[in-house]
Amino acid sequence: MKLLLSVLWFLVTITSIPTIAIGCFKVERDALITFKAGLKDPGHLLSSWHGPNCCNWTGVICDNITEHVVTLNLRNLYDPYDCDDQDSCSDWDSHELSGEISPALLSLRHLTHLDISGHDFSNSTIPKFIGSFQNLVYLNLSLSWFGGVIPHELGNLSRLQILDLSESNFTGLLPPQLGNLSDLWS
Ligand SMILES: *[C@@H]1O[C@H](CO)[C@@H](O)[C@H](O)[C@H]1NC(C)=O
Ligand SMILES: *[C@@H]1O[C@H](CO)[C@@H](O)[C@H](O)[C@H]1NC(C)=O
Ligand SMILES: *[C@@H]1O[C@H](CO)[C@@H](O)[C@H](O)[C@H]1NC(C)=O
Ligand SMILES: *[C@@H]1O[C@H](CO)[C@@H](O)[C@H](O)[C@H]1NC(C)=O
Ligand SMILES: *[C@@H]1O[C@H](CO)[C@@H](O)[C@H](O)[C@H]1NC(C)=O
Ligand SMILES: *[C@@H]1O[C@H](CO)[C@@H](O)[C@H](O)[C@H]1NC(C)=O
Ligand SMILES: *[C@@H]1O[C@H](CO)[C@@H](O)[C@H](O)[C@H]1NC(C)=O
Repeated sequence: MKLLLSVLWFLVTITSIPTIAIGCFKVERDALITFKAGLKDPGHLLSSWHGPNCCNWTGVICDNITEHVVTLNLRNLYDPYDCDDQDSCSDWDSHELSGEISPALLSLRHLTHLDISGHDFSNSTIPKFIGSFQNLVYLNLSLSWFGGVIPHELGNLSRLQILDLSESNFTGLLPPQLGNLSDLWS
């Protein structure tokens, strides 16, 4: 009986390993790696994004109890308004992420805060899939050269409390569902 129990315990332990890497869910880690692969990162903002524990990667914050990724804060910390000389302006430029925002990110189903402000998405439209982050309360896409029409899918973000789309080149209006936001920056 004792042997049987320890064999069972062994099996349970073995089979639970693939889902949780140390302090980080494999599916969420994979999503972040795919997201990183779609981006150009001349300033090496994402250089810490390797190794098993995605919870200690730059900008990634996991809930300390559930260990799910809850915050992705990739704000460009070089302030464009603090760039009166050529040197500090090129600091900002050279730290801009660009490229494609992979829908793989949707695997971060527990995400509440997303900040990808201060980068360069070359007037591309905001990806529609961002409207599917059901738990999002904070979304900051300001100063990142998003443009075109704001996807109405953002109106699905029913928990959103803070939305910052300022300093962009949008041509359309905000989806009406977002009109109720108490803290809207656009
Ligand atoms: C993340 O954690 C691993 C071990 O858990 C450690 O080796 C690594 O240095 C940590 N990275 C950072 C950026 O703290
Ligand atoms: C998670 O950790 C942070 C920093 O260590 C702490 O401030 C916070 O209270 C913790 N949250 C919970 C729910 O334990
Ligand atoms: C959004 O990010 C920018 C920096 O990129 C910051 O200045 C601004 O305060 C943020 N907006 C909100 C509402 O937190
Ligand atoms: C984005 O649009 C603005 C205004 O239409 C234009 O001045 C700028 O050159 C465009 N940037 C890119 C990278 O296409
Ligand atoms: C937005 O919500 C509607 C109705 O709840 C749903 O049909 C639609 O698929 C959702 N769109 C996204 C992008 O999640
Ligand atoms: C695009 O956005 C930038 C930053 O807000 C602004 O300086 C520029 O005038 C805008 N261009 C157009 C055509 O709206
Ligand atoms: C905005 O809020 C009011 C009051 O809570 C509600 O009656 C209305 O349906 C909401 N509008 C939208 C578009 O969600």
